[in-house]
Amino acid sequence: MSELMNKLNETVSYIKSKVTPEATTGIILGSGLGNLASVIETDVALSYTDIPHFPVSTVKGHGGKLIFGKLGGTKVIVMSGRFHFYEGYSAQQVIYPVRVMKMLGVQNLLLSNAAGAVNPNYKVGDLMLINDHISFFTTNPLIGKNEEDLGTRFPDMSEPYNFEILAKAKAIAAANNIHVHEGVYTAVTGPTFETHAEYRLIKAIGSDVVGMSTVQENIAAVHCGMKVFAVSVVTDLGIREDNNVITHEEVLQAAKEAEPKLTLLFKELVKVL
Ligand code: HPA
Repeated sequence: MSELMNKLNETVSYIKSKVTPEATTGIILGSGLGNLASVIETDVALSYTDIPHFPVSTVKGHGGKLIFGKLGGTKVIVMSGRFHFYEGYSAQQVIYPVRVMKMLGVQNLLLSNAAGAVNPNYKVGDLMLINDHISFFTTNPLIGKNEEDLGTRFPDMSEPYNFEILAKAKAIAAANNIHVHEGVYTAVTGPTFETHAEYRLIKAIGSDVVGMSTVQENIAAVHCGMKVFAVSVVTDLGIREDNNVITHEEVLQAAKEAEPKLTLLFKELVKVL
């Protein structure tokens, strides 16, 4: 067996010694969006530091716990705190927990993130359901030897975000009066926010928002056959007439204010998956 599969098996054995995982839905929460974790009826919460082979999150606003419990009556596994490439983790480390979730039985992966808008119609606090992405500015996490036990060498990416889940989410948003956009997320490495020229470029290539996460996790999830749904919370506007200074604090604050909409959406969505 490969070194990676050995490690994954060790991680999964440890987790199964602490909890019996029954969830088929996994959730990864983005920057400033960790509050959803507080509405989970938690059975078991494992600190990342205690899980063998798990990287440890360092960025402000991230909890660093793998939570097993119920969201609105449905069993879920929640990563409160994700691993970002800009923290210095390899792309393979960033996606490690996605693979762990798959091996724990997760079939549907819901992701959230904070993102900067380059679509001029978007406002701070808006939600955007991701229907496609551009990954070219980040490292593809599947570079290297392919793990055949997980998935194919050349995964198809024609439906990176599952159309059926997207349709369900749109219906839930409409029924609950939550205004949502639908659009394209472009991933960058960070940790710098973009220059004016970079925001203009990102807009020009067909993106609506830009952020520093999600896409590597999406690729890993699609590779191993999971269905993915993802939402961006618009925390800042990249394209503006005035000189636009963006701070991490402002991003976290905007995420916090928009979070109740996201929590409601996820809570209703997990019921119908
Ligand atoms: N750019 C990149 N990542 C981000 C942004 C942004 O403007 N806002 C939140 N995450």
